[in-house]
Amino acid sequence: MPLVKMTELLHAVPGNEYAVGSFNVSDMEMAMGATKAAEDLHAPLIMQIAEGRLRYSPLELLGPMMVAAAKRCKMPTAVHLDHGATMKTIRLALEIGFTSVMFDGSKYPLEENIEKTKEVVRLASFYGAAVEGEIGSIGGAEGDMAESDVSITKVEDAKRFAEETGIDAMAVAIGTAHGNYKKKPELRIDRLKEIAAAVDIPLVLHGGTGLTEQDFQNCLSNGIKKINIATASYDNSARTIKEVVQAKPDANYFDLSDAIVQGTYQNVKKHMLIFGLKGRA
Ligand code: 13P
Repeated sequence: MPLVKMTELLHAVPGNEYAVGSFNVSDMEMAMGATKAAEDLHAPLIMQIAEGRLRYSPLELLGPMMVAAAKRCKMPTAVHLDHGATMKTIRLALEIGFTSVMFDGSKYPLEENIEKTKEVVRLASFYGAAVEGEIGSIGGAEGDMAESDVSITKVEDAKRFAEETGIDAMAVAIGTAHGNYKKKPELRIDRLKEIAAAVDIPLVLHGGTGLTEQDFQNCLSNGIKKINIATASYDNSARTIKEVVQAKPDANYFDLSDAIVQGTYQNVKKHMLIFGLKGRA
């Protein structure tokens, strides 16, 4: 199955029937777990890595492996840069063959976010790649990026941002945050509905870890087409390693490597089933 573009997967969603999961991976084991889940469920897949995680997984090493894993996967798989912050990293991801990049300009004032995002759209177009932008501010932080407070996306900003930048997908802030929730999130489904009615590009939900099945259903049935999951895969892989060591104190390197594959596999599969992805590829 060829490496595909994220937009191809998002535009294939009929109405609000399901949302495509976009799963963060940081090594070969996580990529193997995610692609195996897609294959077992016959589901489309987006694999991504955030710029804030590259300290642990240099893009020059991880990126080509992600592209190879996507090409090896029997289901349509897109490879995406999550929370791109610098042109240097965005350019490198595009050179490596990522089929889409996110530029996260949410910390800038609206005008500046629009200008910087437009620059990324121009660059990505030379590579035939798609671009995700962010408007409003999703809470928490993805990896090493600075923590931010939630700032709910305004409908008029979302409309202007989509029209002026020419982005292909838009991350909206509706009350979610990256990482494990310290208190129950209050999702603004009312705002999501208004944004979905005002713009016609696919909407993206960040901060998927810790949301309930009902939260996911509410989001995908009101216009979310891409759902990001990172922390839950990292946590489940770490938990699985600890369980293996507890059950088998003389576990060797390969037992632990396999625990990462299994931990990611279980988490990706669980979320793909919730998002309604079984049999969609
Ligand atoms: P979580 O770590 O909360 O799942 O968020 C993932 C995400 O939004 C990546 O951009």
